[in-house]
Order: sequence, then C-alpha cells, then structure tokens
Amino acid sequence: MAKLLYVEASPRKDRSVSIEVAGAFLDAYRQEHPSDEVDTIDLWNYQLPEFNGETINAKYAILMSKMHTAEQIQAWKPVEEVIARFTAADKYLFSIPMWNFGLPYRLKHYLDILVQPGYTFGYTPMEGYKGLVTGKPAAIVYARGGAYGAETGAQGYDFQMPYMNHILGFIGFTDIRPIVVEPMLMAEVHDKARIIKSAITEAKALARTF
Ligand SMILES: Cc1cc2nc3c(=O)[nH]c(=O)nc-3n(C[C@H](O)[C@H](O)[C@H](O)COP(=O)(O)O)c2cc1C
Repeated sequence: MAKLLYVEASPRKDRSVSIEVAGAFLDAYRQEHPSDEVDTIDLWNYQLPEFNGETINAKYAILMSKMHTAEQIQAWKPVEEVIARFTAADKYLFSIPMWNFGLPYRLKHYLDILVQPGYTFGYTPMEGYKGLVTGKPAAIVYARGGAYGAETGAQGYDFQMPYMNHILGFIGFTDIRPIVVEPMLMAEVHDKARIIKSAITEAKALARTF
C-alpha cells in the first residue's frame, strides 16, 4: 500500500481550476489504487510554524554542525513534524494557482519549512548539495490566468513551474509531471471549458499510471 500526499495551494475551493483538475486526478487515482492512502494538506487550513527567530537559529545551528539549545529544540519540533508528514509519502500531487507569476505565499511558506539541511537535502564538500527525497514521483497541476507556453513569448514570466522544478529538484525529485491549465482569465467561456476538460482527461490518464 502506497501513500499519496496531495498538497492544495488554492484558497478558491469550488471555484478553483487547479483543485478541479486535481480532484479528477484523485478520483482516477483512487479507482486505480483502491488500497492506497491519500493524505491531503489544504495549505489554507494547515497550521505552519512561523519561520523566524529561534527557528532560523536552529536551522543555522544544523548548518554549522552545532547542538540545538533548549529554545531551538522547542522551535524546531513543529518544523520536524511538517517535514515528517511530507517525507512519509511515496508519491505527491500538488495543485497550484499562479500568483504574481509565482506561487501563492502559503505554498512558499510550506516549502521554506520543508527545505532543511539533514532532512530534505544534504551537503558535503566532496559531493556538494544532494537531495534526500529520492525515488518519488510528483504530479503538479498549474493553473494560470494568462498563457506562458513557448509560443506565447511570455515564457520568461513564468516563475511558477521553473521554481517548483528547481526547488523539488534541489531536494531530490527527478520525476516531475506537469499538467498546465491556461489561460483561465483570458480564454472565451467555451474555450475555457474545453481547456479544463482536456486537462481533466490528461490528469486522469496520468493518475492511472502514477
Ligand atoms: C493574487 C492573484 C495573483 C494572480 N497572478 C497571476 C499572474 O501573475 N499571472 C497569471 O497568469 N494569472 C494570475 N492570477 C490568476 C490565476 O492564476 C488564475 O485565476 C488561476 O485559475 C488560479 O487558480 P485557481 O483557479 O486554482 O485558484 C492571479 C490570481 C490571484 C488571485
């Protein structure tokens, strides 16, 4: 039995395109893998620790190979819990709206908690940086108001998909499968419905072999 972690980054719920497409993925996934567990993190209803003060001191202590103080142990505990829930999964599904060409801030906050030395990445002078979350696939639904494909001339404005590829790659992911749903704010109503339908078909096909 495998565990799929679904991370939801849109607060728009039943109006959200990324959630609609991810929902179709999950339906197909559950049908195909009825005994698998699906853990869902709704980033808008998930208490993330602040990343400040003693928490940053605790991170730097790890980087400098120093012991944590009592305050740092206390501050670090909730960070370890968030990481443990993430790394307990075997596969990942993210649904992500584009916000100001990048990620919604709740997702950035989550990633800032997850990306930690000794937990999700390592460093040695001989090998340099090395991701520690390995051998696990990630499917990512990206919803955008505009269009950013190679043919649009706007590819350079997309800091959403390149950032996810970079940060997940940094912590060890090598198998990242995107489903792009665009342009959600610019398409005519009938085009929008067609684009979403096509993304749902793509998501279901991916889920069956995921
Ligand atoms: C705060 C905010 C910022 C946005 N910034 C962009 C943007 O920079 N580029 C873009 O193409 N669309 C942008 N949009 C539009 C969303 O990406 C689009 O509506 C998408 O469908 C949102 O995903 P969702 O429906 O899953 O919430 C923005 C939307 C919001 C709410």
